[in-house]
Amino acid sequence: MDTSDRKQAMTDDSPVIGIDLGTTNSVVAISIDGRVRVLEEGGTALVPSVVGIGADGRLLVGQAARNQLAAFPDRTIASVKRRMGQAVTLPMAGTSYTPQEISGVILQALKARAERALGRPVSRAVITVPAFFDEPQRQATLEAGRLAGLTVERIINEPTAASLVYDAGSDERRHVMIYDLGGGTFDVSIVRMERGVVEVLSSKGDTSLGGDDFDELLARYVADRFLQEHGHDLMAHGSTRWRLLTGCERAKCELSTAATARIVEEFIATVKGRQVSLDIDVSRDEYERLIRTLVDRTIVCVDMAIVDAGLSLSQIDELILVGGSSRTPLVQRRLREEFRREPRWSVDPDLAVALGAGTQAAAIAGLAIGPVLVDVATHTLGIAAMTDGPHGAHLAFCPILHRNAPLPARFEDLFFTHDDMQDMAAIEVFQGESPRLEENRKIGHFMLEGLNASSDCDGRIHVRFELSLDGTLEVTAIESKSGISQRLAIVDALSTMKNAAGAAERLGRLPGFSSAVAATAAHQAGGGVASDPAPADPHAPILHRAKRALATLGPEDAADVERLLQLVAEARAEGDESLLGGLVAELDDLLFYAAG
Ligand SMILES: Nc1ncnc2c1ncn2[C@@H]1O[C@H](COP(=O)(O)OP(=O)(O)OP(=O)(O)O)[C@@H](O)[C@H]1O
Ligand SMILES: [Mg+2]
Repeated sequence: MDTSDRKQAMTDDSPVIGIDLGTTNSVVAISIDGRVRVLEEGGTALVPSVVGIGADGRLLVGQAARNQLAAFPDRTIASVKRRMGQAVTLPMAGTSYTPQEISGVILQALKARAERALGRPVSRAVITVPAFFDEPQRQATLEAGRLAGLTVERIINEPTAASLVYDAGSDERRHVMIYDLGGGTFDVSIVRMERGVVEVLSSKGDTSLGGDDFDELLARYVADRFLQEHGHDLMAHGSTRWRLLTGCERAKCELSTAATARIVEEFIATVKGRQVSLDIDVSRDEYERLIRTLVDRTIVCVDMAIVDAGLSLSQIDELILVGGSSRTPLVQRRLREEFRREPRWSVDPDLAVALGAGTQAAAIAGLAIGPVLVDVATHTLGIAAMTDGPHGAHLAFCPILHRNAPLPARFEDLFFTHDDMQDMAAIEVFQGESPRLEENRKIGHFMLEGLNASSDCDGRIHVRFELSLDGTLEVTAIESKSGISQRLAIVDALSTMKNAAGAAERLGRLPGFSSAVAATAAHQAGGGVASDPAPADPHAPILHRAKRALATLGPEDAADVERLLQLVAEARAEGDESLLGGLVAELDDLLFYAAG
């Protein structure tokens, strides 16, 4: 930051808002009159994370979009957070959008809500992401913020945000576990709180485990009962699937307090020319049998997080529950069994993350001194390099910045050129925990060219990794002899922001989306870091996984996968991109459940 920037930052009294950008619901919070509060409209702070195009062609966000989800699934997009960082496009009313574009629309609605509450423009925000989000997913969140016309001051982890809401001011050292089970993601973090400092010791999670999955399991169960009786699969058709899912979500929430719930959907299908209704009772016992495996998966993460933090169960002083799905009785029961103590609930589990984001936002705006934040890297980052092994030299993963390193982090390592007269080196950046290169995820690469080739094979290359608090990774490679250097800020190969002009144009065409914002976003993105060319086929990884899975799946799942692969081939032959996107997403979901 140079002097003029610093002066600008010191005199900048523009408000900073805190945003919990959730899979199911989003919430915006801000400090007003010295208190952080969530912004309500129509009696609720929750803005459903749903975007749609109404019958009149207008853009719908939040409850209005959610209301049309069951009736018009082709014109509506929900749970976009699960797709963040993936090279997929999502069809909506005949046009395809990237996940960050759709998230950008949600963020713009939250920004507008804050502007209505404050009566002045808002352009700065703190946005939360699951602690387990990887680089491409964080990058996609930043891009969504830019598309919404927001300067994202900080990306913080959801459990860290939640912990900020709880009193961190006490002198006593406490270890707190934050268990956050939301709509689409699960996170568990162990934090240490002491004298106003919150330090994340470890984070574990699952980016595709949440209440949406509970809904799907219940819907599949109900659909199977309906199928047995009527020979018709409600999950196989877009609109009945959504109606069933909506009804099952309602029943699921009822089952948190009631022993049974009734799912009634009038005239849901036409079977042999006759209109048939759905009317089924589900007991809590039946429901808990369906979700037990998923809940147990969260408990495995809990155990791993405690080990990673270097603690034992008895050293955890407190357990805080966050996220709507943490209201599920089975979840609480399993945690009680595990901890033999009562979880704490003092803040509404739906709002804790947004309130924490608002607390951090207030601190950035200089309004309040919140607890100091110490965050950690949630993945190991490194590069590919030749390593000697029992079977000779081979390419392996060499970690540079280890998981759980406190942020901001800066680590460096030294590498040597491999061949005599080598005048260039490929720096390939990976993320993951396996020594085997192919089991990690490649997140970027660049070439260091013009090396000082010499026959003494002494080309030393320093590779430096700098990971900022918002999770942006800068990789620098420097050859010591020549001083030649090259730097890369990670914009993942999967990132689709490279087509920012297209994104701005598509969003600008939506009635109701501010075209000025879209134009700014395109301008900002234009100056960004060059990213890798688009993969030839964005669906290839899922299709490949599906074909491989055929060998191991049970006969029913395999038949479903084969049917979907056949439909994918047909959609592709017809060039129907929107159908193709939907089918691949369905395939992705199917593989996930089959694996679970
Ligand atoms: N009483 C309840 N019992 C069980 N589940 C509930 C209850 N109330 C809400 N939920 C579920 O909580 C989920 C939404 O939680 P929340 O708003 O915390 O998620 P989110 O923040 O949008 O998602 P994420 O944190 O995964 O991005 C939904 O799946 C919803 O069905
Ligand atoms: Mg959440």
